[in-house]
Amino acid sequence: MRCRLGVRASNSTRASSSPWSVKFPNRSPTNCAAESDAQAQPSRWVEPTQVRAAHLESTVTKVSNVFRLPVGARPSPQLGEQRPLEPTSPKRSEGGIVAGFLAPHPPHLIYGENPIQNEPRSEGGWETLRWAYEGVRRRIREVYRPDVIVVHAPHWITMVGHHVNCVPRSTGVSVEPIFPHLFRYHYDFQTDVELAHAIADSAEGLGLTVGRMTNPRLRVDYATIGSLHLVNDSWDIPVVSLSANNNPYFYSDAPQDQMELLGEATRTAIEATGRRAIVIASNSLSHMHWDREPDPPEDMSAEHIYNQHQYQWDMHLLEALRSGLGPDDLRSIISAHIEATASETKAGSLTWMLSALGWPVMPADVLAYGTVIGTGNGIVEWDMGKSMIS
Ligand SMILES: [Fe+2]
Repeated sequence: MRCRLGVRASNSTRASSSPWSVKFPNRSPTNCAAESDAQAQPSRWVEPTQVRAAHLESTVTKVSNVFRLPVGARPSPQLGEQRPLEPTSPKRSEGGIVAGFLAPHPPHLIYGENPIQNEPRSEGGWETLRWAYEGVRRRIREVYRPDVIVVHAPHWITMVGHHVNCVPRSTGVSVEPIFPHLFRYHYDFQTDVELAHAIADSAEGLGLTVGRMTNPRLRVDYATIGSLHLVNDSWDIPVVSLSANNNPYFYSDAPQDQMELLGEATRTAIEATGRRAIVIASNSLSHMHWDREPDPPEDMSAEHIYNQHQYQWDMHLLEALRSGLGPDDLRSIISAHIEATASETKAGSLTWMLSALGWPVMPADVLAYGTVIGTGNGIVEWDMGKSMIS
């Protein structure tokens, strides 16, 4: 299920001179805002089949007539930990994947930051998530120093096969179609074309259906642009961008085998080309969200998790990542989390990234967790240098 938001245009919509400034009619709540009755406390390492059965049993999904639920207990976003900048691996000078990040892309984070590339202006908002991303940018710039950033994003949706952006230089304006009043971003970045083709070759060699996107006029989606901006706002590192082949993932219980193969293909190609790379998964976590937004959109008094059920499952998954569990446990928990929370990880970015990293049995660093219009967002780092020396 892909949940999208029917928003009421804010009176504070800015940059009204832009052709992208669109006024929305009021919309009634949709199934996207349906509130799950499944409130069961997640026990540790629940088998997905058990979760699915419990969920189906309780899925008399009702359309919520509540436009704004009362503000209850709110999760306290964790500040990005101040981390040492010293390299932790003796192999820093070598190629390969040096780090992975779960790097969600809510357009609100760019809107709150007011970068010059984005047309709308804000009064801020979502600071703790944005501060964590500042730490990510610092570590990428000063510690990892990659040749390339490889990103998999859920909103470049291709229905036949996994596509790789092979356009040498992509320029344009990326617009969030539901939030054009928040995100109209002017992008300009270079693609590592050699690596892009190497990933495509490697994926084809593993039996995947692959497309090579060579149309320079294709507008790059906001999830790709959002995550890339958030991890490197200077855009001075070449990129390889991968699509989300959503065809197999209409159902939350669809296996993510293809994403694992795509991750293997990505790793193989990076090593074969000698690139020093980071991989980023452009996925939020729990994905139930409000169908109205406050005025102004950055009014943080209205921001909190959709419900406790979603929060607990997000913590369940983040605990698993922090614990450094092995691939079988993680696969099971990711699947259960998708089923329980309509998680955006259904699009496969997290699974792809973990596979590209080789499913490292190492504790990941949760740098921050926070909500955006009710969705859960974790910024998580895997420093492969730690893996090498542990
Ligand atoms: Fe998204």
